[in-house]
Amino acid sequence: MRTYLLLATAVLAVNAHAADPHSYAETDKFVVRHVAIDLRTDFEAHRLEGTAELTVEQVDPAADRLALDTRDLEVGSVQLVEASGRAKALAYKLAEPDPILGSKLTIEFPHCCAATSQMKIRIAYRTSNEASALQWLEPAQTYGSKPYLYSQGQAIHTRSWIPLQDTPSVRVTYEARIRTPPDLVAVMSAARLVGQDAPGEFHFAMKQPIPSYLIALAVGDLKFQAVGDRTGVWTEPARLEAAAHEFADLPRMLEAGERMVGPYRWDRYDLLIMPRAFAYGGMENPRLSFISPSTVAGDRSLVAVIVHEMSHSWSGNLVTNSTWDDFWLNEGFTSYLERRLVEVLYGERRASMEDAIAYEELVQTIKDLAADGHPEDSALHLNLAGRDPNEGTSDVAYQKGRWFLGFLEGRFGRGKFDAFLREYFDEHAFQSIDTATFRAWLLEYLKRPGAPAVTAAEIDAWLYQSGLPPTMPKVAQGVFAPVDEAAAAWRAGRIATDELPVKDWIPQEWVRFLDEQPADLEDAKLEDLRSTFRLGADGNAEIALSWLELVIRTGYEPAYTDLERFLLETGRWRLVETLFREMSRTAEGRALGERIYAKAKPGYHRSIRDAVERLLRPAATAAATQ
Ligand code: BES
Ligand code: ZN
Repeated sequence: MRTYLLLATAVLAVNAHAADPHSYAETDKFVVRHVAIDLRTDFEAHRLEGTAELTVEQVDPAADRLALDTRDLEVGSVQLVEASGRAKALAYKLAEPDPILGSKLTIEFPHCCAATSQMKIRIAYRTSNEASALQWLEPAQTYGSKPYLYSQGQAIHTRSWIPLQDTPSVRVTYEARIRTPPDLVAVMSAARLVGQDAPGEFHFAMKQPIPSYLIALAVGDLKFQAVGDRTGVWTEPARLEAAAHEFADLPRMLEAGERMVGPYRWDRYDLLIMPRAFAYGGMENPRLSFISPSTVAGDRSLVAVIVHEMSHSWSGNLVTNSTWDDFWLNEGFTSYLERRLVEVLYGERRASMEDAIAYEELVQTIKDLAADGHPEDSALHLNLAGRDPNEGTSDVAYQKGRWFLGFLEGRFGRGKFDAFLREYFDEHAFQSIDTATFRAWLLEYLKRPGAPAVTAAEIDAWLYQSGLPPTMPKVAQGVFAPVDEAAAAWRAGRIATDELPVKDWIPQEWVRFLDEQPADLEDAKLEDLRSTFRLGADGNAEIALSWLELVIRTGYEPAYTDLERFLLETGRWRLVETLFREMSRTAEGRALGERIYAKAKPGYHRSIRDAVERLLRPAATAAATQ
């Protein structure tokens, strides 16, 4: 096994652009360099309709077929657009869909054109009303009285609204014209070309090359408020003031990021605070992170999510995982930067709390993956071929990745490791790389005079083996000692519920207190907690999550209505996934999960539905309860 792994690694290192198992793109034949979309939003039919014009570079002069990724698109025509502007129809074939990858669109070039090195292909199409990237929200699902649309490209959903090479190994610049109903505003992960806008018509350009999963669009009743010169907040009018207040630290965050890892290369950094149905805590769409409203806690306690998405401006958006098997390169580096920046901005104590909580979750995830029959998914480098990439993405990429870099930091020492990081970003800026490329670069770097001793075997244990390796640093839990002591005293009846020292607890301490409660905690104690501290579906989302996990763990039925309300109100992956996973552990919980899901499903983004259905599927749950 070991020899095999080393051999495989060596082969990958030579062929730095190992094919992406989640794309039909043949990048050795053609590479798409620029995408120009011109789309109309149809809020009645829940469809986008228009054209995508791809600027395609011919890599192999003999190639005469261009393969693109699509999912559920209705293609009307494909044309070759000549320099003169004249368009010529091209033959094409849309293959039967693969359930994970979608349909391969093959475009044929007549022999006359095969020698051209760059050409423009125009595809007229419309999206399905079930497009996997798009979520169309009714006014009742927003903070106002207008409908809303947003796209979520990661991991392989952009193909459901734009036909292109939907692989993070290919980077494109893009431009867009988006036509909307006159009372709505469109925003994208790109610069706004304000001079060209008219009511119901918006123009955008992204000049820096990005992977396709970062092309993003949102349309709704949106307003903007600046928070500093190059940062600001977009959201629905009713939420604008609260959002701008919550994220007043944006300028400071960006400056701290630049001090640590080098210049911010995307000009502006704005946030779009989404409706509650938004599928993620945050999504790092360049220049404009999409953010769950559950982060607007009122007390700035959940800003780590913003620090995380902003950090992706370096790890992920500037240096990108070239396949989803290398997802840890995005999320592990980002979680490491998040940890370091939380320390700079909010202090060591807060950062150690986040670390301690995340570590416990990581240990649980590694156990769950083994129980689900996928222990190999706890290696950093994944093998997701044949699976939906979202299926293999867990907090292993985030937290094991964060600790791999923590291990390296320990060996290098902080100062030297910061220099290493900066060089990593500078050298790979605007490139997509895989794990083997990173490994080779790291090993080269370690040959420099003054570099620490780290062996290839130590590195490979992190990258290619399940679980946590022997070089895993010890994660200090001491920061929670006072909370843990109070919890123990309370459980043993030495202090009453209203004597718990909660007055100065920050939300992270509440999370710890609740997470540490056992499954056999008596109903009377749960009832006491609930009434004394008004725990339920409202308030700080992280506290509510930990409380509701405890409700499921203990089978505390009186709070099931809060659980249901919480799951009906939010569509955020981590909150939804965590609670349905907890329910899937017992037969009773599964039945409850199915009942709640039947009601909540219409409000969830399609990728979240898939995740919940995987959890409630009998096969997965049977393994999990073994
Ligand atoms: N890029 C991810 C979100 C994502 C992951 C979308 C996988 C699709 C597939 C984003 O940066 C993220 O990690 N969001 C987290 C919050 C973060 C603070 C850990 C989330 O949504 O909970
Ligand atoms: Zn992330």
